[in-house]
Amino acid sequence: MVFDLTEEQRMIQEMTRNFAQKEVLPKAAELDETGRFPEELVRQMAELGLMGVAVPEGYGGAGMDNICYAIAMEEISRACASTAVILSVNNSLACDPILKFGSEEQKKKVLVPLASGRHLGCFGLTEPGAGSDAGSQKTTAVRNGDHYVVNGTKNFITNAPQADTCILFTMTDKEKKHKGITSFILDMKTDGVTVGKNEKKMGITASATASIILEDVRIPVENRLANEGDGFKVAMHTLDGGRIGIASQAIGIARASLEDALAYAKERKQFGQPIANFQAIQWMLADMATEIDAARLLTYRAAWLKDRNVRHSKESSMAKLYASEAAMRASVKGIQIHGGYGYIKEYPAERHFRDAKITEIYEGTSEIQRLVIASALLKD
Ligand code: CAA
Repeated sequence: MVFDLTEEQRMIQEMTRNFAQKEVLPKAAELDETGRFPEELVRQMAELGLMGVAVPEGYGGAGMDNICYAIAMEEISRACASTAVILSVNNSLACDPILKFGSEEQKKKVLVPLASGRHLGCFGLTEPGAGSDAGSQKTTAVRNGDHYVVNGTKNFITNAPQADTCILFTMTDKEKKHKGITSFILDMKTDGVTVGKNEKKMGITASATASIILEDVRIPVENRLANEGDGFKVAMHTLDGGRIGIASQAIGIARASLEDALAYAKERKQFGQPIANFQAIQWMLADMATEIDAARLLTYRAAWLKDRNVRHSKESSMAKLYASEAAMRASVKGIQIHGGYGYIKEYPAERHFRDAKITEIYEGTSEIQRLVIASALLKD
């Protein structure tokens, strides 16, 4: 077993860390405050090859592995969790399913612009009545000759207002339940597609979240992703990879909480000395650091398995579950170490707390991750 990063992995770590510290971090507070979509950062990330990290170069990506992707996500998230989720949705939820299930023609036409960052992607699975229960899709797709007619509503869709392309899930045969779900590549400019208002959120405010309303949307048959009835497997496989991205996001947020708290504890004096001298503070810092390392090891293991095309549902869920809960704990401790200053917006500690919370919810709540892990244990 080797714990060293490869040369390529070290290279992307250094590159994304420099970029995140110089370009992203100075904007994080403003983005959080205004909720402005960081268009210029997305463009810069595209120039650095970050919009399709693990997509082969032939399809517009950077041709790196999934550990490189996890590293990049951690570094961007350490600076700004909003910017990072824009990245993770494009990489994991838009590029990856096309790479895995798309035809050669779909890869050339749709994957290349997504992975190179000329286009932005979103993932249309969640519906008002289908959150954790992703199998109960109500959006319908009815075949009519050379196209399908789609009607329904998707909600809480990250990147929806800016997206050019949506990986869309629909029901083509409701009698078959999850085996009646079919996925499509939807061009967001198609007639009948409307994007709803941007939701006001507790955290990750600069990443846009909106509903997509589909009214008699005609999707050509050649835009179907995989076969009719394969959609649920496409969604689940995609989320196995997506959860690696969100685990990495949580690690980045936890690291931000730790690094900010560490700096503050060394500088803040009470009772005539830096508070870092007190064991009460040291124990919190030690717990944060230990949990961050544990989360990272779980996440790298899941990414390593993904690179080897080994089913990694359980490992991805373990990584996402542990990392997101560790991020919540770290962000609470980060505020506590800052004392009263942790509660005011002048310091980033409270932003980390608000940003961490969503990692326990999207791409499957902690409760769903526990279900996936338990179901794998019971099958073994
Ligand atoms: N890979 C391949 N196939 C899989 C699979 C996987 N990871 N997981 C399940 N399947 C297959 C099963 O083998 C089964 O196949 P058969 O019928 O052939 O046996 C089939 O799918 C159904 O599986 P389950 O019985 O386990 O399905 P379920 O209805 O009980 O649901 C679930 C399972 C884990 C709860 C699933 O619905 C789930 O993950 N829910 C959470 C949804 C979610 O994460 N949503 C996130 C939205 S996207 C988002 O959040 C993006 C963002 O904003 C950033």
